[in-house]
Amino acid sequence: MAQLEVHDLAQAVIDRMADCKEPRLKEVMSALVKHVHAFVQEVQLTPEEWMGTIEFLTAAGKMCDEKRQEFILLSDTLGVSMAVVGIEQAKGAAALKANPPKLAPTEATVLGPFFWEGAPELELGADITGVSSGTPAYYHGCVTDTAGKPVANCTLDVWSGDGDGFYDLQKGADAPMALRARFHTDANGNYRFWSIRPAYYPVPDDGPVGGMLRRMGRHPNRPGHMHTMLSAPGHERLITHLFVSDSPYLDSDAVFGVRNSLIVNFEPHPAGKAPDGRVMTQPYHVAHYDFRLVPSAA
Ligand code: BEZ
Ligand code: FE
Repeated sequence: MAQLEVHDLAQAVIDRMADCKEPRLKEVMSALVKHVHAFVQEVQLTPEEWMGTIEFLTAAGKMCDEKRQEFILLSDTLGVSMAVVGIEQAKGAAALKANPPKLAPTEATVLGPFFWEGAPELELGADITGVSSGTPAYYHGCVTDTAGKPVANCTLDVWSGDGDGFYDLQKGADAPMALRARFHTDANGNYRFWSIRPAYYPVPDDGPVGGMLRRMGRHPNRPGHMHTMLSAPGHERLITHLFVSDSPYLDSDAVFGVRNSLIVNFEPHPAGKAPDGRVMTQPYHVAHYDFRLVPSAA
C-alpha cells in the first residue's frame, strides 16, 4: 500500500468521499478538510495545542442546555454568524439585481441566543416593560416592501435585555418572560409599542468562550439593541436589531453585528405627552424605524 505523506492527507480524506450521495455535503466537507489541513500546516499546530482545542470544544459542549448555546456564542464571537447572515443577504441582493428595488431592504443581523419562542401576542401600542428596569422608550414606524407598499398584519417579534443589560433567560430557571412580545402591523403597515431603551451588556462570558475572549484580549460587550424578527406571508423573514445610537461599543460589538443602517436615534423627551397621547410622568425616548421586507418571489 502506498504510504501517505502529510501533504497528501487532505486529498486522501476527500477521495474517501467518492461514494457520498449528497453533493452539497461533499462540497462543504471537502472544503472543510482542505482548510483545516492548511490551517494545521500554516500554524504548525503542536499536539498540546490540538488537545487544548479538543478540551475547549468539549467544555463548550458541556456548557450547552435549552437556555445556553455556547457554540452559537463561539460562532458569533468569531464573526462566523455575521458572515453567514451576510452571504444570505447578498444572495437576496443578487436576485434583485435584474429588477432593482425602489428601497433598499433592511439589513439583517445575528439572532443571538436569547430568542424565546411563544412571546405574548399584544395589541399595538402595548407597554411590555412590566417590572423591568430601564428608561421608557416608544418604538414606532412602518413595515413596507422594497417597493414602498405597506405590509399589513406583519408579525413583529421584539425582545431585549433590561436597563441593566440582563435578559429574562439569564434570571434563573423559573424567571418569567419579560421585555418580549409579538405585535401585528395594522392595515397601513404601522407598528408601535412601549418598552425600554436597552443598555449595553456583555455576552455570557462565564464559560469557555468568555475565557477565549479574555485570552484574546477582547471585551465581551454588545451595544444596546432591540431585537426584532419580522414575518409576513409573501416576504422573506427578517431577523435584525435596532441599535441605540449613543450606546458604547457600537464600534466594537463583541459579535460584529452592527450595521450603520440599523443605528437609531433614541430621541430623549422630558416627562409630558408622548406621541401616542400617553402622559408620561418621567423622561422617555422615542425610536422611529421603518422596516423594508424583500418579497419572497424575488
Ligand atoms: C444578543 O444579542 O443577545 C447576543 C448575540 C450574540 C451572542 C450573545 C448575545
Ligand atoms: Fe441581544
